[in-house]
Amino acid sequence: MLKRKDLLEIKSLSEDEILSILHTAKQMKEKIDNSSLRSDELKNKSVVTLFYENSTRTKMSFMLASDYLGAKPEDLGIATSSVNKGESLVDTGVTLDNMGIDAMVIRHSLTGASHLLAKNVKACVINAGDGSNEHPTQALLDVYSIIEQKGKIEGLNVAIIGDIANSRVARSNIFALSKLGANVTLAGPSTLVGKNMETLAKNVKVVNDILEGIKNADVIMGLRVQFERQKKMPFPNTSEYHKFFGLTKDMLHLAKDDVTIMHPGPINRGVELSTDVIELENAIINEQVKNGVVVRMAILKLLLQNR
Ligand code: NCD
Repeated sequence: MLKRKDLLEIKSLSEDEILSILHTAKQMKEKIDNSSLRSDELKNKSVVTLFYENSTRTKMSFMLASDYLGAKPEDLGIATSSVNKGESLVDTGVTLDNMGIDAMVIRHSLTGASHLLAKNVKACVINAGDGSNEHPTQALLDVYSIIEQKGKIEGLNVAIIGDIANSRVARSNIFALSKLGANVTLAGPSTLVGKNMETLAKNVKVVNDILEGIKNADVIMGLRVQFERQKKMPFPNTSEYHKFFGLTKDMLHLAKDDVTIMHPGPINRGVELSTDVIELENAIINEQVKNGVVVRMAILKLLLQNR
């Protein structure tokens, strides 16, 4: 059961709460696969997206998920809102709250922005990414996608490669994968993954060599370098980065034969993953996008059904 007002992070979720979201997502996917896409389970509920940072997948999948459940999604178009007249995040949230919004989905460049909003509004708040802190719904769709492929998480070797230090996707996945019993290896240049990240959760290991990182992996998750969060370039240029830390097809013999390749998107082709890797049959990047909708349907349903 998910007995919370908000979904702000994976760190404080219990294993049971994670499993109940995944279970509901499975039911949603079965419905969609049986062509009963739309329901009125959240009829008369209103969902607003507040994206202070860019998004394609996360924002659209929340809007579609709300629509499929019969709730009415609206996007506050931050660029044309009163945020540009200097209105604060809390004042914006309280304004929407007074209009009777049921759920606010927020993405912001500051760590803790969704926590601040959640404390100040009656609506359910869902964190769609706060700075380099957490992106809980991405991690939930990632573990859902892994379970679809492998049938479990426990005991799997999952390599997360690239810019770990600045990635909210990495942090949320580290918490989720570790809680569900995976062995997590973080591989990236020392400027983009600190040794102290081993202490984030149990069974987490840091290596600075990608070949060592993917050895015996059941799953490899590539991450985009978060240029927007760097004060200075953490490596000389992108081709140099690809040479030392990009994943290419010829490296994959080091991983398990049935290794699954993942990426949250957007991908910088030829930087973190080469095109021949993206196009492999065991790359499930498009399936992740599809699962993003059902997992977000599950989260909206669980948070809003008892409101
Ligand atoms: C991620 C994000 O915004 O953190 N994208 C996403 O939600 N699919 C990863 C990224 O931008 O690199």
